Amino acid sequence: MSLPIPTDAPFSDTQRMWLKGFFAGLGLSAPTGGATTAMEPAATGEPLAILWGSQTGTAEAFAKQLAKKAKALGLTPTIYDMAAVDAATLAAMGNVAILTSTYGDGEPPDNAAALYASVMAENNALLAGVKYSVFALGDSNYPAFCQCGRDFDSKLEALGATRVSPRVEGDCDYDTPFATWSETLLGVLASEAAA
Ligand SMILES: Cc1cc2nc3c(=O)[nH]c(=O)nc-3n(C[C@H](O)[C@H](O)[C@H](O)COP(=O)(O)O)c2cc1C
Repeated sequence: MSLPIPTDAPFSDTQRMWLKGFFAGLGLSAPTGGATTAMEPAATGEPLAILWGSQTGTAEAFAKQLAKKAKALGLTPTIYDMAAVDAATLAAMGNVAILTSTYGDGEPPDNAAALYASVMAENNALLAGVKYSVFALGDSNYPAFCQCGRDFDSKLEALGATRVSPRVEGDCDYDTPFATWSETLLGVLASEAAA
């Protein structure tokens, strides 16, 4: 069963991608070469690396929520503590979701510090194959609001990675921005996997 989005429907490209992916996740689109039945996840095992940088566990908890949602859509998520990832490992990861808070005065949380330093020190087009999106957690009472997430986002782009959906920033209350970010990102990935 297919559910086309009318060409004159008032959606942006990002919204169209999201809707396409959302319908795909519900089994409401027919991938080329085969029919799907309703409610069958459409994305067949596409890997997604989920990296978290967190001082007190908030970003890590959202990383786990993202993994659950990704699985439900038929993706294959793997969660990584940023302390276990370096720039070279990141370069080989393919689809990457980054969830990170900011600490100190605009600094990365401790477990993200080494990866942050190695990524910021790169100046080659190291990440050409990476497709990524950033969810930044912070508190606008601090002058360097969400700085760590912002830095990862802009540096990854500068290193040749492709931002598959826009960075979303949460200001102390994260549930709504996380829902927006995760649904947009997973919609794009599921849509690509179903294409
Ligand atoms: C000591 C301290 C410093 C912080 N510095 C910043 C900051 O510079 N910028 C920012 O946006 N948020 C800052 N925050 C807010 C945290 O990013 C926010 O509380 C976040 O939810 C923590 O998430 P986590 O548990 O994943 O580390 C700071 C919080 C603390 C306690």
